[in-house]
Amino acid sequence: MKTVGVIGSGTMGNGIAHVFAQNGYKVNLIDIKPEALERALATIEKNLNRMVAKEKITEEVAKESLSRISTFTNVVDGVGECDLVVEAATERLDLKKKIFTEIDNAAPNHCILTTNTSSISITELASVTSRPEKVIGMHFMNPVPVMKLVEIINGYSTSNEVTKTIEDLSKKIGKIPAMANDYPGFIANRILMPMINEAVYTLFEGVGGVQEIDTVMKLGMAHPMGPLQLADFIGLDVCKAILDVLYEGFGNPKYAPCPLLVNMVNAGKLGVKSGEGFYSWTHGTKDLIVSESFK
Ligand SMILES: NC(=O)c1ccc[n+]([C@@H]2O[C@H](COP(=O)([O-])OP(=O)(O)OC[C@H]3O[C@@H](n4cnc5c(N)ncnc54)[C@H](O)[C@@H]3O)[C@@H](O)[C@H]2O)c1
Repeated sequence: MKTVGVIGSGTMGNGIAHVFAQNGYKVNLIDIKPEALERALATIEKNLNRMVAKEKITEEVAKESLSRISTFTNVVDGVGECDLVVEAATERLDLKKKIFTEIDNAAPNHCILTTNTSSISITELASVTSRPEKVIGMHFMNPVPVMKLVEIINGYSTSNEVTKTIEDLSKKIGKIPAMANDYPGFIANRILMPMINEAVYTLFEGVGGVQEIDTVMKLGMAHPMGPLQLADFIGLDVCKAILDVLYEGFGNPKYAPCPLLVNMVNAGKLGVKSGEGFYSWTHGTKDLIVSESFK
C-alpha cells in the first residue's frame, strides 16, 4: 500500500492526511472546495511544526510529510492510483452514497474503500459499490494526530482479508485498532451519545447546572473533560444527527435526542464551531454561560 486518497479535507480529513503522510504514504487529499484544501494544508503544516517544537519529529520529517500530500478538487482525478481511500466528507447518507459510487468507478480494482463515518451504515455504503467485500469503516477520533484509537467497523460483506489488512495498517500508522460490527453508532457513539444526551437531560430537568454536571463527570469519574464540554467540541448538530441514527436504527425512545439539544441545534447554538453551545467560545477559550440561558 503506497497511495492513500483522503476525501474531505475538513476537521477529520486534514488529520487523517497528516497521519498517513507522516508515516510515509503518498496522500491525495480531495475536497470540492479549494479553500478547504488550502486551510487543511495550513493546519497540517502548523500541527507538524508544533510537533517539531515539542521535539516529537525532526524538521526534515515535517518537510517530507508535507511534500507527500497532493491536493485535488475532484474524486475521479484523486483516486485513480490509490491503494486505499478514506472517505471523510460531510456526514450525509445521500452524499456519501454518491461519493462511494464515484470512487468505485474511478479507483483501481484492488483499492480498499473505507469511511470515517461516525454513524452511517458501512453495509449500506458498500451496497452502492461493486466491491462490498473491500468496504470497511475506519473511524478515527478527533484530533487524529493525537488520538490513538481507530474503531474498525466490518460491514456485512467485508472480507476477513480486508479486515486484517486494515488492522495491520492502523498499527503501522501508530494507532490502536478496536474491532466493531456494523450496527447503529458502532461501539464509540453507541455508548458516548446516550451519555451526552443524559447529561443534557440532567441540565434540562434542572438536576444540575453546566459546571456542576461537567465537574461531577471530570472529578468523580476521571473523564478528561465533562460531557457538555465534549458535546460543544463535537458539535451539537453532530450529536443530534448521531442520536437520530440510533433512535431510527433501534426504534427505542431511550435514544431520542433531548428537547433542549434539539432546541439548541435549531437556534444555531452548535458549540465551538458556532461560538456558543453549553459554553461561550467567542474568546477562543471556554466561558460559562449562566444556567438561565437553558430555561
Ligand atoms: N468531527 C469529529 O469529531 C468527527 C469524529 C469522528 C468522525 N467524524 C466523521 O468524519 C467525517 C467528516 O467530518 P468532519 O468533522 O471532518 O466534517 P467537516 O465539515 O469539517 O469536513 C467535511 C469536508 O467534506 C467536504 N466535502 C463535502 N462534499 C464533498 C465531496 N463530494 N467530495 C469531497 N469533499 C467533500 C467539505 O467541503 C468539507 O471540507 C464525517 O463522516 C463525520 O461523521 C467526525
